[in-house]
Amino acid sequence: MSLTLREAVEQLPKVELHCHVEGTMRPATVVELAARNGIALPTTDVTELYRYGSLDEFLSIFWLVQSTLGSRDDWARLAYESVVDGAAHGRVYAETFFTPARHLAAGQRLGDIVAGLADGLAAAEAETGARALLIADQDRAYGPAAGRNLVEQLGELRRAGAPGIERVIGVGLDSTELGVDPASFAEAYALAGRAGFRLTGHQGENSPPSAIATVVDVLGAERIDHGLSLVDDPELVRRFAAERIPLTVCPNSNIRIANAFATLAEHPYARMRAAGLLATLNTDDPALTDLDLGYEYGSVAAAFGYSFDDMVAVALDGVEASWLDDDGKAGLRGTITAAAADLGPRIMADDRT
Ligand code: ADE
Ligand code: ZN
Repeated sequence: MSLTLREAVEQLPKVELHCHVEGTMRPATVVELAARNGIALPTTDVTELYRYGSLDEFLSIFWLVQSTLGSRDDWARLAYESVVDGAAHGRVYAETFFTPARHLAAGQRLGDIVAGLADGLAAAEAETGARALLIADQDRAYGPAAGRNLVEQLGELRRAGAPGIERVIGVGLDSTELGVDPASFAEAYALAGRAGFRLTGHQGENSPPSAIATVVDVLGAERIDHGLSLVDDPELVRRFAAERIPLTVCPNSNIRIANAFATLAEHPYARMRAAGLLATLNTDDPALTDLDLGYEYGSVAAAFGYSFDDMVAVALDGVEASWLDDDGKAGLRGTITAAAADLGPRIMADDRT
């Protein structure tokens, strides 16, 4: 049976490196957990809940959703549903953020959060075959001391061999960029690097390219999450391309969350790819923005006139940008290229641009 390009990229095995597990919470789960944990929602019509006109407005909804997570079981359920929902759209591997600052401030234990997430990921992996690892994000809004404390606690859990901690492979930084100097998180990053965690950080979603350079040069990040403003600095673009520093770009999120563009056609993703940047494709907060990774690939292909082979190259760049070891990367590349060899010839001639 012949396929549209949209259907082929939906089925193509894909990697996701920029997805917040809390941002995958199904609307029905938000309502159920809020009721169970006594969190007042402004409305139980979740389509009403998810309305925002800027990144900071979005973040206040994100924080409300986060606050519904009260127990290890809640985290397990969230993680389970996130992998099941991703796999339904061809996501076979993810490095997923969780941002526990407000839960730790409210007295939850990091060990319970990590163990719950790991339980849910393992259950979903057994069911779907899709895999997921974790990146512990510092929340800028809670400041550098909370960030350092998170990294210290991660180190303690590792030393203790705590349940699920082997899933946490990296440390990142997210939340509001306005008025926050990323360099203030240098101590936490240095500590995380010494402890063997991989390093990434959100930057350039609504901050200038100089802040992106700081995250790489001062914090030692190996990847940049979003990196949208990078294109405003051609010299930095050339450097990122030459050094293959990955960007985890989220074009539809930049429209729906950051309100940075009205349409995909205006998004710099195509310019990023044309400049040779290792610009991967991701959803960010799929359930809160009514997105999925298949839609992300399909809509970007349509907006920029990309072919199926172009989209396979994007998927393979996701493997390169991942933190899997060489064997893990080779296995995933094999999965993607084998599936692409099967799907490609089945795409309708009209759609095989
Ligand atoms: N946390 C969840 N989504 C985010 C985004 N788009 N930017 C910064 N922090 C986030
Ligand atoms: Zn993000």
